[in-house]
Amino acid sequence: MAKIIELKNISKVYGTTIKTKVLHNINLSFEEHSFNSIIGASGSGKSTILNIMGTLDRPTTGEVYINGKRTDNMVKNELAELRNKTIGFIFQFHYLLPEFTVLENVLMPYNIGYGRPTKEIIARAEELLNLVGLTEVKNNLSINISGGQQQRTAIARALINNPKIVLADEPTGNLDSKSTENIYELLRDINKEFKTTFVIITHDDRIAEKTSRIVEIEDGKIKKKVISDK
Ligand SMILES: Nc1ncnc2c1ncn2[C@@H]1O[C@H](COP(=O)(O)OP(=O)(O)OP(=O)(O)O)[C@@H](O)[C@H]1O
Ligand SMILES: [Mg+2]
Repeated sequence: MAKIIELKNISKVYGTTIKTKVLHNINLSFEEHSFNSIIGASGSGKSTILNIMGTLDRPTTGEVYINGKRTDNMVKNELAELRNKTIGFIFQFHYLLPEFTVLENVLMPYNIGYGRPTKEIIARAEELLNLVGLTEVKNNLSINISGGQQQRTAIARALINNPKIVLADEPTGNLDSKSTENIYELLRDINKEFKTTFVIITHDDRIAEKTSRIVEIEDGKIKKKVISDK
């Protein structure tokens, strides 16, 4: 199977006067269509590595390949386009725009990448909202729905441009355990239905155990790679 994300000899140093090395020579890749988690203690480097994969941050040394293309030396505009069209992001805090409705928030990445939504895209957004169980609140302002619904809106938004990759940084960090479980079921269904590759940071071992591959980070290094057949 093809590698859709590939990190080669990645290191990351923060700061200029006081330098802190937080990633040490990381080699890590993910297969197309796979469902993965990243675990590790607070401060171990999980978000840093995910942000580098997602081209939101640049490595200090090393190479990053997304879908076969080297990205660490791309210019800003190229990166913005690649991100918009290839990668969906889900963060711990959803960053929905409060003055827009649920549906408008879901359409936002399309708007940014391609301009005014077509009828077909609006239909797709509605389908995604149906998939995440939000049809009834689609015309509510995003502030007028629950936390779990906001998180599901963010998931639909991450999928609107049909990305090959979804990167999630503790996507259920502020939800109760029931909602957390529902959201993971949903992500797994999306992985199966759309063959989207997922890399999900989680603090929750029970969640990690549900993924096909667990990557553990310790002090900026890969500790172990557990591969199961789930
Ligand atoms: N912008 C920054 N400037 C300086 N140091 C940073 C910066 N961002 C992160 N760090 C440091 O890099 C290390 C890794 O941080 P990172 O956010 O990747 O950890 P994490 O594993 O995601 O932790 P958490 O589970 O708490 O989210 C930490 O020691 C952190 O203090
Ligand atoms: Mg983090």
